[in-house]
Amino acid sequence: MCGIIGIIGTSEVTERLVDGLKRLEYRGYDSSGIAVLKGGVLNRARAEGKIKALEARLAEKHVDGSIGIAHTRWATHGVPNKTNAHPHISGRAAVVHNGIIENFIELREALSKTRKFETETDTEVIAHLVDDALNAGLSPIDAFSQSLKKLRGAYALSLIIDGQDDTMFIARSGSPLAIGLGEGETYAGSDAMALAQLSNRLIYLEEGDWAVLTKDSYHIFDENDVPAERPISIISGGPAMAEKGNYRHFMLKEIYEQPETIGRTLSNYIDEFRVKADLPDALSFSHIDRIIIVACGTASYAAMVAKYWFEQYAGLAVDIDIASEFRYRKPVLMKNSLFIAVSQSGETADTLAALRYCKQAGIKTAALVNVMTSTMAREADIALPINAGPEIGVASTKAFTSQLTALAALTLAAGRARKTLNADMETELAQALIQTPRLVSEALKLDPKIEAMSDDLSKHSSAFYLGRGPHVPIAFEGALKLKEISYIHAEGYAAGELKHGPIALIEDGTPVIVIAPMDELFEKTISNLQEVASRGAHILLITDKEGAAFAEAFAHELLILPTSHAFTAPIIMSIAMQLLAYHAAVHLGTDVDQPRNLAKSVTVE
Ligand code: F6R
Repeated sequence: MCGIIGIIGTSEVTERLVDGLKRLEYRGYDSSGIAVLKGGVLNRARAEGKIKALEARLAEKHVDGSIGIAHTRWATHGVPNKTNAHPHISGRAAVVHNGIIENFIELREALSKTRKFETETDTEVIAHLVDDALNAGLSPIDAFSQSLKKLRGAYALSLIIDGQDDTMFIARSGSPLAIGLGEGETYAGSDAMALAQLSNRLIYLEEGDWAVLTKDSYHIFDENDVPAERPISIISGGPAMAEKGNYRHFMLKEIYEQPETIGRTLSNYIDEFRVKADLPDALSFSHIDRIIIVACGTASYAAMVAKYWFEQYAGLAVDIDIASEFRYRKPVLMKNSLFIAVSQSGETADTLAALRYCKQAGIKTAALVNVMTSTMAREADIALPINAGPEIGVASTKAFTSQLTALAALTLAAGRARKTLNADMETELAQALIQTPRLVSEALKLDPKIEAMSDDLSKHSSAFYLGRGPHVPIAFEGALKLKEISYIHAEGYAAGELKHGPIALIEDGTPVIVIAPMDELFEKTISNLQEVASRGAHILLITDKEGAAFAEAFAHELLILPTSHAFTAPIIMSIAMQLLAYHAAVHLGTDVDQPRNLAKSVTVE
């Protein structure tokens, strides 16, 4: 979603604001803009499209100052163009906003009686509300805090006022926002990435908080306007983590990081010396009858794989739901359930709402997240890190395999606690997990072959991905990856389900990617493969050595991935899904790291 950065200090801020926006561009890239105050005078620059368009605009006419706010937009209300780009200004107030003001129509109608609106956005009402209050004689702090009381919906916002170049106002309700502390400077940012070059000392605002920043102070108030203390977090990692290195795209870099990132996840959950799962004490499966896993998109496919694992190895009932449906369905919750939110960002609005719903209902909650300073990590009873490091490519890759790895380790712990896995079985499965980074490295060596295969795939307008068992969600994920970055239409299907309708779409040459490592369902999947092959489908079989020996003759193209334990095979198969989509997109010349219409971290519902 949109990204926000603000700086208040003594030296000029524009260059650093633009640098921060570049780090935030993965969150939204429809348009961008900055507003600065110099000698108390407000100036603004905005541009449609990516940050480089804003840089070009600034090169023509530079604006600068010692205080400024900046924004990169993912459009919700109003088309992506320069007029709708933030900051929005009304009179003396300039504001940048991430989220949705749900009552903006009502507010706009009321304000329109005396004020002229310039944009189609929901955000503009905030600038008008504050300016209206200033005109009514309120002090800046009262104008800001009283305007907040009129807003309904989700927001992270940062506001500056003409004539007031020693103060910045910020607020958070529903969308994350942090204060960064510097030497004689103070910052605001929608995530740690925005502030990576500026500060590693961050204070995360809590729900309903608002704050007044000066260059050397900050004052936080809670939703009842009572002064509040919030802890300072020291952020590790630093700016280097957000660099592409020698890779052409962040996505490729992140795909190649997986042997290391999976290894990091493992070291958190598997005791490699005792070859056993090793979980935080707070997470006990002995009194759990059911697990509810809620997530969105790619994270929901990791959850779906985990359902197979928990049921098979721990005999534990699992409900999986996509968060946008769960939150409004009034789900019936059983006592003795464990709720797990799976989310790379830890900020996805629907997943967060589902977590809050369960917490309120008295269900024990856990959040499996990549960003440990995120709202989900802070609000869940138990925060479970995946430790994949910052994921910048909009299409999730390394977070997915780390989510799978962590969920696999949780399965072992559940199986042990529920006595469905004996010590030998647990060791066998833990051993399989420990071997995963090495097998992923081997799978990555197939990159040139996958690149060659993707050339043909990229020439089609539609494709199918088929699998059975835990490879059904991997088929979903393969199709999602292809859709989102190459814009080729793709469907993931359970191999046995295709003949109940979608097989009608198969015609001569339709690419069908079949994910079938040798396992107990292998023969059934190969029968389904033959059903589509005999109707003209072009088959790309992704399997292992044993599967290839048996089914080579049935495929037009064959990709042989390293042989793994059936338990961990979905993780290995994912690598081929990622590389196939990546190279198809590169062949087509799309913007791999920032595909059209998408945003990382979806903080609106
Ligand atoms: C797809 C992708 C998305 C996310 C989804 C959930 O490649 O990245 O489908 O998985 O938006 O995001 P998180 O995991 O941050 O909750």
